[in-house]
Amino acid sequence: ATIHDQKLHRGAGGELHQFAEDGMPVLTTAQGGPVSDDQNTLRLGARGPALIDDFHFREKIFHFDHERIPERVVHARGYGAHGYFETYESLAAYTRADLFQRPGEKTPAFVRFSTVAGSKGSSDLARDVRGFAVKLYTQQGNWDLVGNNIPVFFIQDAIKFPDVIHSVKPEPDKEFPQAQSAHDNFWDFITLTPESMHMIMWVMSDRAIPRSFRFMEGFGVHTFRFVNAADESTFVKFHWKPKLGLQSVAWNEAVKINGADPDFHRRDLWQSIQSGAFPEWELCVQLFDQDFADTFDFDILDPTKLIPEEILPVKPIGRLVLDRMPENFFAETEQVAFMTQNVPPGIDFSNDPLLQGRNFSYLDTQLKRLGGPNFTHLPINAPKCPFHNFQQDGHMAMRNPVGRVNYQPNSWNQGPRESPVQGYRHFPAEEQGPKVRLRPESFADHYSQARQFYISQTSPEQRHIAAALIFELSKVETPVIRERMVSHLLNIDETLASKVGHALGFKSMPKPADAAMPTRQDLEPSPALSIIER
Ligand code: HEM
Repeated sequence: ATIHDQKLHRGAGGELHQFAEDGMPVLTTAQGGPVSDDQNTLRLGARGPALIDDFHFREKIFHFDHERIPERVVHARGYGAHGYFETYESLAAYTRADLFQRPGEKTPAFVRFSTVAGSKGSSDLARDVRGFAVKLYTQQGNWDLVGNNIPVFFIQDAIKFPDVIHSVKPEPDKEFPQAQSAHDNFWDFITLTPESMHMIMWVMSDRAIPRSFRFMEGFGVHTFRFVNAADESTFVKFHWKPKLGLQSVAWNEAVKINGADPDFHRRDLWQSIQSGAFPEWELCVQLFDQDFADTFDFDILDPTKLIPEEILPVKPIGRLVLDRMPENFFAETEQVAFMTQNVPPGIDFSNDPLLQGRNFSYLDTQLKRLGGPNFTHLPINAPKCPFHNFQQDGHMAMRNPVGRVNYQPNSWNQGPRESPVQGYRHFPAEEQGPKVRLRPESFADHYSQARQFYISQTSPEQRHIAAALIFELSKVETPVIRERMVSHLLNIDETLASKVGHALGFKSMPKPADAAMPTRQDLEPSPALSIIER
């Protein structure tokens, strides 16, 4: 046998394994063709022009040129891990969701933590909301609980989402500042949007600079429904409670960490899981009915409000353990597609107008981000239960209906069938009313819970909130925007407002904001406000 022959080996199935001279597998093109030289392009003479026959070079560069996909329009920077969810007890009285029927049942999970505003390459310790997106691969299909580490949100209606996000991202002409919140556009939008006041207090607090993902809470934010086998509905709010407790860093620490190690949070998750210190959260619920909901001044459909845990304690219903890092960041963490619309039978939506808009948005954005309608064929997005349907073709289709039948009803008695018993039944909520664009009166109080949050903080935490507001607003160059924010703060806490106003150089305080009135949009500070000393 020649040397050449010794480097070939046929496998049991007749496949040809080719080895390079040092015994490593031979490099091939994507078409499987063996490559002889990966160091030099094909040229006419050693110093001559490149030749178009060089299919290996062309394929290699072509593929490289297409490596990037669009980053997520929000939550671009994230880090994920695999794990499982373990059910504590049967919740059959409340929900027919299969994953909540049997104590001890384990459901595979994938979780992605993220920052909202920064780009994919931004730093981990930014002052920002953190995404806490959980995909549970249940036996009745995937359930995505796409939450944040803050229990409320900036806006009450999804139609404002592009505005809040545009305002927080870098300004379109200059493409800076990168620092998410520290600029005029963001504070302009916030101060013209009083419904954001509760959320903004959380964002100015230590919650927005977590020590690591392992020390964060997570929240489903919206009111959802549990629906049991008898089609009875219970409202539910979801909370993730970290076993390690809640910890944040101080702002000066965050700034230093960002400079020294912008990957601090992902490194922490990687190292803890690789070393066997598996982070864990309890899934807790607040369960309530319409009568209970009616006892509040605020509306349980309003995503800028929470139900205080002192009034309705959370009930632990299971635990989430993250015990395995992805083998490939791009294939798993980057290509995972979370969607609020992914719910199994027994979990349903409320009329929260933010949730309703989200249910539309995620599928839409992923069609673009993941390049077509077949992103559920990617292993990270595919269900882990048996599934059957007649969807076919499209870009990158990896599976198609097999055999003659790709429709139903059909006379060949083939293929899957719908099932009114096993299938997803939407809760038959009775709805009626005129078709209007109208914010309900029950969504009108923007300050009470902002105040409650502020006064619930310890004094060092309150000092941090004041310092954050002073730092952020000192970066705002337009005086009237600073004035507007202080006028909102007057409705939240007067001491806080005057502390911030004083630090910003106000000689007198503005009038408290009137949330019911259209906020002033002109750029002149009020005459009562002396020119700010900068
Ligand atoms: C992405 C949470 C509101 C549109 C995300 C992600 C999270 C999240 C955690 C990252 C998912 C991942 O890791 O892949 C939330 C929460 C919201 C909220 C908790 C409010 C309570 C909205 C609204 C819209 C929206 C109102 C639009 C109407 C999007 C889009 C993405 C996204 C387009 C990018 C998805 C992707 O490309 O994979 N959101 N979001 N979100 N969210 Fe939201």
